[in-house]
Amino acid sequence: MSTKLWHPFANMADISKKETIIDRGEGVWVWDTSGNRYLDATASLWYTLVGHGRAELAEAAARQMKKLAAYSTFGDFANDPALRLAERVAALSPIANAAVFFTSGGSESIETAAKLVRRYWGAVGKPERHLLITRGGSYHGVAGYGTSLAGIEPNAAGYGELIPGVICVAPDDPRAVEDVIEQHSGEVAGFFGEPVRGAGGVYPPVAGYWEQIQRICRKNDVLLVADEVITGFGRLGTWFGSSRFNIVPDIITGAKGVTSGYLPLGVVICGERVQEPFWRGAGTMFRHGYTYSGHAAACAVGIRNLEIIEKENLLGRASDLEPVLASEMQRLLQHPLIKEVRCIGLTAACEFSAEARQNNPRVADDVLAEARRNGVITRSLLGHSLQVSPPLIITREELKFMVDGFLAALNHVETEMTEMRRA
Ligand SMILES: Cc1ncc(COP(=O)(O)O)c(C=O)c1O
Repeated sequence: MSTKLWHPFANMADISKKETIIDRGEGVWVWDTSGNRYLDATASLWYTLVGHGRAELAEAAARQMKKLAAYSTFGDFANDPALRLAERVAALSPIANAAVFFTSGGSESIETAAKLVRRYWGAVGKPERHLLITRGGSYHGVAGYGTSLAGIEPNAAGYGELIPGVICVAPDDPRAVEDVIEQHSGEVAGFFGEPVRGAGGVYPPVAGYWEQIQRICRKNDVLLVADEVITGFGRLGTWFGSSRFNIVPDIITGAKGVTSGYLPLGVVICGERVQEPFWRGAGTMFRHGYTYSGHAAACAVGIRNLEIIEKENLLGRASDLEPVLASEMQRLLQHPLIKEVRCIGLTAACEFSAEARQNNPRVADDVLAEARRNGVITRSLLGHSLQVSPPLIITREELKFMVDGFLAALNHVETEMTEMRRA
């Protein structure tokens, strides 16, 4: 019997009869329904910052659900967890006097931020500022705007006409941004970028990139949006990637780590400038919001999750482990199938050599399948790299176990490839 579950980002013709059913989790470990144990080297989709199986988070959800699971925050309605989490996230963010708009996840956060950027310029009487700049190789989720902002081309292909007015620039070149702004003088509304490009392959920015982007945006009156869906809430050893790169964006989008994924939640953190036309004077309504914006139980989990990150000093831990992960990853660089490793904070990627990919276009899939047999779950990023983004609670021994698992898998696949070539 094949499954009725249509998996995201999956070829159902391939996997409909061979799902891996994950059953439970504890710390950095998850178990499938056959009882196999795996080290979760990707924290699911980057998000399980505090690790799996945290009873405190289940209890926070249950407590809130018994009292009030959810209630609209449209109009004048609010609930205590939404108010408290907004306060907490605003205080943690590098943006002074921020206001927080809640969504149900990263794609909705980007959708909200992009609409807000355009709506802002309309509200201040400059609707001609409508162009949005994005970076090659970027991932901003899969909603309408996120698909239109996609720098990973296949993610935007095949959907017909997308949202117009998006310009994609080379990812590491501030000069390219300046050129676009000059060519379209007075028409650029906002710049969108991930502090560290994640799904595109874990690319830390080139030195000084973000400071230059901030300078260019400020000089040209362009709103700066940092998409921190991956980098927000501790992955880089700081609450936000923006702080690590010394920038103060106009808007920060977040999701994932705010609840460690225990319940779905996204945030859009907005600075005073963006608030101005909506919050001050006669005001203007931002005609936008989701049924689950400010979901009480999700926000209660968010509050508890941020308490755990703080109480257990997981930012300090990510910083301490950063060089440990980097030196473990160096071991992979010795391997002939690997061309490069990239590391920052508690995330990394190892990239396969062009030769390896030429000899075996499925090399990334083969290695991750073998790593899984060795008890380590990882993910292929666009077929060229493997993702490493473990929970922040991982230990040094577990990091070693993870890299040992990758190495054994690389060795196995390399041997197979050599034998195939000989045959
Ligand atoms: C940078 C970035 N933005 C947006 C998203 C979309 O988030 P979601 O999958 O929660 O909609 C992601 C998801 O990985 C992401 O990495």
